[in-house]
Amino acid sequence: MTPMTLLPRSVCVTAHAHARASNWRSISALQRRHQQQQQQQQLHTCGRLPALLATTTTALARAPNSHANGSVFYQIRRNMSAAPKLVAVAESRRFMIDCFKAVKVPQAYAEDQADLLVGADYRGHFSHGMNRLEMYINDLAINATDGAATPKILKETPSTAWVDGQNGLGAVVGNFCMDLAIKKAKTVGVGWVCAKGSNHYGMAGWYPMRAMKQGLVGVSMTNTSPLMAPTRAKEAALGTNPLAVGANATNGDRFLLDMATTAVAVGKIEIQRRKGAKLPDGWAQDPDGNNTNDAELGFSTGCLYPLGGSELTSGYKGYGLGAMVDVFSGVMSGANYSTKVRKWTHAGADTAADLGQVFIAVDPNCFAPGFEERMTDFNGRLRNTTPQPRASGWRQGEPWHEFCGRGRRNPISGESD
Ligand SMILES: NC(=O)c1ccc[n+]([C@@H]2O[C@H](COP(=O)([O-])OP(=O)(O)OC[C@H]3O[C@@H](n4cnc5c(N)ncnc54)[C@H](O)[C@@H]3O)[C@@H](O)[C@H]2O)c1
Repeated sequence: MTPMTLLPRSVCVTAHAHARASNWRSISALQRRHQQQQQQQQLHTCGRLPALLATTTTALARAPNSHANGSVFYQIRRNMSAAPKLVAVAESRRFMIDCFKAVKVPQAYAEDQADLLVGADYRGHFSHGMNRLEMYINDLAINATDGAATPKILKETPSTAWVDGQNGLGAVVGNFCMDLAIKKAKTVGVGWVCAKGSNHYGMAGWYPMRAMKQGLVGVSMTNTSPLMAPTRAKEAALGTNPLAVGANATNGDRFLLDMATTAVAVGKIEIQRRKGAKLPDGWAQDPDGNNTNDAELGFSTGCLYPLGGSELTSGYKGYGLGAMVDVFSGVMSGANYSTKVRKWTHAGADTAADLGQVFIAVDPNCFAPGFEERMTDFNGRLRNTTPQPRASGWRQGEPWHEFCGRGRRNPISGESD
């Protein structure tokens, strides 16, 4: 099985990697050929969980249009009513690489970006997997992002670096910066790298995971387009500004916190909207600044609650955390921040994002010996607490399944659903 069977019309995007837009009539022939090929292929799963692209693989690519500037513009539509499908990780990666190459992203950078998206779907962060492909492709197609740009170091000390992402793809800038932070941490114990001129970098946890592979503790943060209303406000002045922190324990165990500083990532509101489902309290405001359970209204208002929700439920702490992320990523790097960051829609944006990001790597061996062993002990103490009777998050259909996807590992309890 390949996305060609799941996404019959997605071949439009793939085909364009080989054919000009004028060859649109050849699509059905390509489709037939892929259908024949897929009959000979086995679905092979990679790792613990094949990429469950239930909400995203129903994305249907429409015929490419010529954009005003001569580049190709793809509109990707979704059909949430279709049954969930499983797509092999390798195949969804191949599909996305072809999409990026079709809008002139070099192979290596297309791979970086596709790996990030597949990684998010694989981990169950469906809001930041293939769900984001459309927005990246549209930004590239209208040259709001430069898919071939290589980040440049502007200033450096043994433990710090200031980088200009040069409007490159978020994963390209993020990987470059985290690799630099890792190199510094291995030399002097800590690496702190700030980037300006970046784009949406996807799942924040991707970058700490890179540091963890090298035995380091990793941290990353990014600012994003305004979507969070400060406590008592009815307009957005901060993004969903995620942060992620990862640390290894022993025997492959670990701690990995990866979260928006709004109650949820906006992608989860998109997903509820497409499903025609309601929003829980504390996710989004209506235009008057009141809580709304209407996903359509929540999405169109574009004013999410900070983590914690309203003032009554301590949402001001999420507001403070979101502001902290912007200080470290936007203000410190000289990128856009707060309402200076552009609005971003599914059609892309007509200006460069100039997002700010921060990537930190720390060698725990610079401190007390036995960090990983203590992390194992630490995790165990959290996991071994007495559970509530049938803790609500773990039941089929309840929030853990509904909003986080199956197959995710609880970073604290280590348990998978
Ligand atoms: N690049 C961007 O602009 C951007 C913006 C916002 C969010 N994001 C990404 O979106 C993704 C989703 O963010 P989110 O805040 O909606 O995530 P989430 O609410 O699903 O999870 C947040 C954290 O809580 C953990 N978690 C979830 N349910 C849990 C439970 N029942 N018990 C214990 N721990 C639990 C998760 O493993 C994760 O570490 C993340 O990868 C984030 O980095 C990216």
